[in-house]
Amino acid sequence: MTAEIINGKEIAAKKRLEIAEEVEKLKSKGVTPGLAVILVGNNDASRTYVKNKQKACEELGMNSLLIKMSEDVSEEELLSKIEELNGDPSIHGILVQLPIPKHIDEKRVIESISPLKDVDGFHPINIGRMMTGQNAFLPCTPYGILVLLEESGISIEGKHVVVVGRSNIVGKPVGQLLLNKNATVTYCHSKTKDLTKHTTQADILIAAVGIANFIKAEQVKEGAVVIDVGMNRNEEGKLCGDVAFNEVSEKAGYITPVPKGVGPMTITMLMYNTLKSASESISD
Ligand code: GUN
Repeated sequence: MTAEIINGKEIAAKKRLEIAEEVEKLKSKGVTPGLAVILVGNNDASRTYVKNKQKACEELGMNSLLIKMSEDVSEEELLSKIEELNGDPSIHGILVQLPIPKHIDEKRVIESISPLKDVDGFHPINIGRMMTGQNAFLPCTPYGILVLLEESGISIEGKHVVVVGRSNIVGKPVGQLLLNKNATVTYCHSKTKDLTKHTTQADILIAAVGIANFIKAEQVKEGAVVIDVGMNRNEEGKLCGDVAFNEVSEKAGYITPVPKGVGPMTITMLMYNTLKSASESISD
């Protein structure tokens, strides 16, 4: 079997058009969605991510506010900036780009963001609301995966989903979101015994381990849907996923490539969450 490629770039572009239309409608009611991004220090990857987030805001007609803080900023100063943004009615989404320097308590920072403006979906209140199936900001990469599956016409109910990786940002929440859609979910991680025994049972296999080409064809069931969340650099410095794409695409039914798979969906769902926050700010 040769897998159908799930084109994340195309699906993201379609979603962004829909978001831009909704932004225009909100603007006609006098509200322009605004996203504040706080960047602490000079991490190169973080700078690129933040630039892309600002660019997306501009393209979709939203306001973006970039707050740069030096590597040695105090925790108090960062918390006080977040407090100020929590009370700013022109700001609907607040995001602190991770990682932040070690002298700052990441949990304390995340919990200081108003759950009503937590467009990353990282606040424990939003995580709890997601787990119990209530209205919440859903974390952007897992939400993007859900949209990729839905837009590709792949049904989730009753499917066996195997998630490889248990990070708080991707692995854990993506399993939870798919469980909410009535999938049967298995989590695998670095201590799992006989990984292949589990992964070959998957109707939908989600690889979120952060190791280049970790998932091989022998670990995939014929015809399975394979979602690759990896963003790794191989020996030649080329971007590659957690899945050995060439061999797995000969066996899978559907597969996301890297790049142009899951990646473009993450910022798209951040834009969606910011729009949702702005809409809800006038509907209460
Ligand atoms: N660093 C890497 N990914 C993310 C993300 O989705 N949100 C934030 N805030 N920081 C990140």
